[in-house]
Amino acid sequence: MSRLSELISSIEESRTVAVSSLAKRLKAEGKDVLNFGAGEPDFNTPEFIKEAAIKAINNNFTTYTPNEGYPDLIKAVIKKFKDENGLNFEPGNILVSNGVKHSLYNILMAVCNPGDEVIFQAPYWVSYPEMTKLVKGKSVIIDAGVDKEYKITPEELEKAITTKTKVFIFNSPSNPTGAVYSKDEILAFAEVLKDKDIFIISDEIYEKIIFDGEIHFAIGSIEHLKDKTITVNGVSKAYAMTGWRIGYAAGPKDIIKLARNLQSHSTSNAASISQAASYAALTQITDEIDRMVDVFKQRRDFIVAELNKIKGVKCPLPKGAFYVFYDVSFYYGLHANGFEIKDSTSFCNYLLNEQNVGLVPGIAFGNDNCVRMSYACSQAQIEDGLGRLHKALGKLG
Ligand SMILES: Cc1ncc(COP(=O)(O)O)c(C=O)c1O
Repeated sequence: MSRLSELISSIEESRTVAVSSLAKRLKAEGKDVLNFGAGEPDFNTPEFIKEAAIKAINNNFTTYTPNEGYPDLIKAVIKKFKDENGLNFEPGNILVSNGVKHSLYNILMAVCNPGDEVIFQAPYWVSYPEMTKLVKGKSVIIDAGVDKEYKITPEELEKAITTKTKVFIFNSPSNPTGAVYSKDEILAFAEVLKDKDIFIISDEIYEKIIFDGEIHFAIGSIEHLKDKTITVNGVSKAYAMTGWRIGYAAGPKDIIKLARNLQSHSTSNAASISQAASYAALTQITDEIDRMVDVFKQRRDFIVAELNKIKGVKCPLPKGAFYVFYDVSFYYGLHANGFEIKDSTSFCNYLLNEQNVGLVPGIAFGNDNCVRMSYACSQAQIEDGLGRLHKALGKLG
């Protein structure tokens, strides 16, 4: 008999978390580390949201709320989906959880049986394959490299579908690539999914961080998919609230009911104070998101232009989120100081050792030719980081 769970032993630590932890440790040891691994905005949570939380504490809004979320927040989530995404829900369609990660896990647990196939594309968000393992499902991954601007086609989706397909996880804007699918592209996926018994989990956490006039389109708003789609979203990225841990899922009542039951035995309700803060975020008008997105866009323009000036680097222009995902495979096989660059992990190790620059290897997202660099950091750090990147790559031969 194994001493530890075989299932949990098969799960890897989140590599994005691991890189951030290593960079923080090196910094604590006194090294001048520039960490580009962050998956969170470098802005503070807006004041009005913090004030709502303080008020909640002072009003003793500090006890358990209903497991599925407190009714006013659920109403606010319903209104958000209706006004912004054209999705129509009732309270029974909603579950508020401890972050979008938790929402996704609850939903996958609610729909998957052992051996069910879960389709998603690579580059993917790190947790999709690991969560699929946790529900004893099988990941079916469709590759989309830099030459396709990290987008899959409807034909590729069609080809990946089998009689065992249970779920298609869709993420636009994407982490790690920043790719955004247009309405027409999404309608083409919808045609493929029509009349098929496949659930769509649409991870829309970066919906508000979108550039160049791109418009976020919710796949669940397509009439013939609305009974099959579970839309997940939350406050982490849009409102600079990663630490508050609030996400929500909206979908068919039978799925949400199971997910609620699971949550009732694992975590119960998300923190009451964070729910009050999220209610303020969703119900009060603010231009802080627009300001944040403007800053992200300026940084993106700068960083993409600079990266593409570097010999061998291929960096498509991301249309959303706050990451650049660029191909560095040109450097594989090259050496410096007796160190060989073999893959995205050795590339990142080299940069960390050589120039104290922390990037995330693309292999964490299912693409070993690339690395991810977050630009949720100051312009000064970006300029310093790019300078160091130049220096380190210049030594390779
Ligand atoms: C695509 C994607 N989905 C979900 C999450 C999880 O978000 P949360 O912090 O709300 O759990 C993240 C966080 O990085 C993400 O990038």
